[in-house]
Amino acid sequence: MTDSQESEPKKVARQSGKSLLVVEDVSAFYGDAQALKNVCLTVNSNEIVAVLGSNGAGKTTLLKTLTGLLGIRSGKITFNNESITDMPPDKIIRKGVASVPEGRQLFGTMSVSDNLLLGTYSLTKSERKDMLEARSEMIFKLFPVLKSRLQQQSETLSGGEQQMLALGRALMSKPRLLTLDEPSLGLSPLLVKEMMKMLKLISRELGVSILLVEQNARAAIKIADYVYVLERGEITLRNTAEEVMASERIQSAYLGA
Ligand SMILES: Nc1ncnc2c1ncn2[C@@H]1O[C@H](COP(=O)(O)OP(=O)(O)OP(=O)(O)O)[C@@H](O)[C@H]1O
Ligand SMILES: [Mg+2]
Repeated sequence: MTDSQESEPKKVARQSGKSLLVVEDVSAFYGDAQALKNVCLTVNSNEIVAVLGSNGAGKTTLLKTLTGLLGIRSGKITFNNESITDMPPDKIIRKGVASVPEGRQLFGTMSVSDNLLLGTYSLTKSERKDMLEARSEMIFKLFPVLKSRLQQQSETLSGGEQQMLALGRALMSKPRLLTLDEPSLGLSPLLVKEMMKMLKLISRELGVSILLVEQNARAAIKIADYVYVLERGEITLRNTAEEVMASERIQSAYLGA
């Protein structure tokens, strides 16, 4: 990509034959305050996409629009070639979008086991019956510590273990796209590194695409394929992670590095 392309975000979404999530020209408001301005973004199959931005940039708002928690004023959101623009959250989960929300939002007084079960609440009874065992086994393979603590109250888990539980819960619904809102928050640098490695593994082994919202740009870029920067509700940079990593100019202009 040339320099001029780097600094000028295109208005169109990045299209490809294997687009899984396509966000086109999305604007969203809280009352009269505009929180997202004509946002265009694409996540392809088996891709990790990072959305970077500082406090108040609109990162959580963007994820809320994708998961049906916040209606949009204009634009279009397509998942797996189907419009999910006005779909309610439970239906969007059933289509294959799962999220690890800001602050993890576990049910602290409930056990690890019950928190994991909650990840399947949007499925029908027969779907749940069909896949509960296999799914649990797969999650215990990824996070053995959860298996050994099934009856422990989740609020008594360490920060790193809680993050694993939040991830495990999201994976219980067998998603095709996993969205994560600042999963590195509150974790030590070492745990952040481990968690990012885990996300890469999940994406590769389970064929799950990942939309990773982060303030920790350095950590996110390392595992991402593609990067967007969100500033005051607008996408101001879009580029491959490789280009972003290689360009000191981009890093100092956009990422405060
Ligand atoms: N429920 C709400 N009502 C009104 N304004 C809101 C609401 N939620 C967010 N906002 C505003 O929308 C803007 C974007 O907020 P958002 O939470 O999406 O930012 P963020 O990028 O996730 O920030 P952070 O990194 O601090 O979590 C901010 O100006 C915020 O004050
Ligand atoms: Mg946020």
